[in-house]
Amino acid sequence: MRRLAWASVALAWFVACGPPAQSDPTLDTDAASAPDEVVADLTDEPAPDVAVDTAPDVLPSTDPPPLCRSAIAQPQWYHRAVGYEVFVRSFQDSDGDGIGDFKGLTSRLDYLNDGKPGGDDLGIDLLWLMPVNASPSDHGYDVTDYRKLNPQYGTDADFNAFLTAAHARGIRVVLDLVLNHCSKQHPWFQASAAGTDKADWFVWSDVALNWKQPFGNSPSWHANGKRWFYGVFADSMPDLNYTNPAVTAELTDVAQTWLDRGVDGYRLDAVRYLIETGAGNGQKDTPPTLAWWQTWATQLRQHQASAGKPEPLMVGEAWAANAIAAQYQAAGGLNMTFDFDLAAALLASLQNAAPETLAQVLCAEEGVFPKDAARGTFLTNHDMVRIATQLAEPAANRLAAVLLFALPGTPWVYYGEEIGLQNGTDSNDEAKRQPMQWQPGAGVGFTTGTPWQPANGDAATVSVQVQTAQADSLLALYRKLIALRQASDALAVGETRLLVAGSLLGVLRKAGQERILAVLNLGAAAVTPAWTALQLGGPVAATDLLTGATATNLRSVPPRGFALLRLQ
Ligand code: NOJ
Repeated sequence: MRRLAWASVALAWFVACGPPAQSDPTLDTDAASAPDEVVADLTDEPAPDVAVDTAPDVLPSTDPPPLCRSAIAQPQWYHRAVGYEVFVRSFQDSDGDGIGDFKGLTSRLDYLNDGKPGGDDLGIDLLWLMPVNASPSDHGYDVTDYRKLNPQYGTDADFNAFLTAAHARGIRVVLDLVLNHCSKQHPWFQASAAGTDKADWFVWSDVALNWKQPFGNSPSWHANGKRWFYGVFADSMPDLNYTNPAVTAELTDVAQTWLDRGVDGYRLDAVRYLIETGAGNGQKDTPPTLAWWQTWATQLRQHQASAGKPEPLMVGEAWAANAIAAQYQAAGGLNMTFDFDLAAALLASLQNAAPETLAQVLCAEEGVFPKDAARGTFLTNHDMVRIATQLAEPAANRLAAVLLFALPGTPWVYYGEEIGLQNGTDSNDEAKRQPMQWQPGAGVGFTTGTPWQPANGDAATVSVQVQTAQADSLLALYRKLIALRQASDALAVGETRLLVAGSLLGVLRKAGQERILAVLNLGAAAVTPAWTALQLGGPVAATDLLTGATATNLRSVPPRGFALLRLQ
């Protein structure tokens, strides 16, 4: 081992790569002129007179960065998974009616994960299907029969075939389960409103009440004849009454039935709003709501265990600060919540070239959640303007991808993010859920008919077929990142330490002897990192996992540049 006395020497050993078009001449990637391996070590000797690059925003400290997030001590399958959210209606149509369906989805499973090592599949192993139950709407969040599938998506046999094919490839499947409310057209509500049956299955008032939504300004009570019913989202979606044991029993049985049919868990819609205790704060996160989910989750765990099956994934949409979301994971509750705080911070960090924002949020989470709590990391979902549109700049979108897989948590990709699918131009929800773009041409490979929503006109660049042919495409980057994540304990479940210096972010992940450092320059100017070997925890040599290059000298990280380094 060559020993270099570098007590305060700027790192001079790793490769940074950015978007190919932005390679920076100051980056010394000339492997021929660099040793195969450059090792930095620390001694007590004074630093020799070594010429190093300096940058205005160096970290003065040589302390190791503090622990930001602990390793997962007892990883479960969902801690290691890479998730993918699909809107079945928009993924693949098999029969030319312009509406995606189960057969279409099945035909695209090899794209998601062909079940074989290597190859050019995406490599995800966890699929979230947005609502597939019978529903009168396009979005499906207003269910009319929890035990039936939306016939537009196919038959029971089609669904079973899909599930079997997904499992054969090692893909677990979770369904969107919308328990808080159902459709106004559900026979339960019709009977309840008519007074013929199900009297207490919904939340009724004989007097007008003036409660607003807890997340908006619209009314929560809706007139129906001479009475009013509670529907926190909309008049078309009456809330079910979970203080009624019959409702709880029915919806618990529904969940168990789909588990028995082979699904692996649920994405749980709107978990914060189940049981109301009054206006305002009594409309969200109430103690009875939290207790309800705990009981429900325990029952589902027991149900699976008694069938000899692994714990189901129960991922809650608690769209709130993590201090609130964490409560849904307390003491035997749900086993994952989506990290909305992190998604917002990640976006803000990228938009403002300010990794500090992200670091503050990520590191504040430690201690808020129970030990080993799983958090779903994501960039955007079906309720948000697509990330490629919000970030606009392709290079920033690549950084977002690296962050998604370098940060702790279970990453979820919203379909199309991997090709940079843009939002539609309207401001409605449909614009966030447009057809997946498989290839250029009419129907973009999604349908032979007329798509239920028009596709964007950019499939000549934003499509799976085109990007599969390009080694430096966003899709190629996603494929690499997912493969690396799937093969790395450090990335999947390791501890996290962050190094922040101006626009530069280092994400140091570690599990056992494995150490991976993601280096990202979120800014528009090149930056030279000044992290010492001490800060990285000792002697270092590095291989860039994205380019395969061994360590060479880093003069600077180019604007929007990044590297994913295995430290030896
Ligand atoms: C949250 C879902 O994500 C959103 O899309 C839906 O409209 C509401 N819940 C109501 O179900």
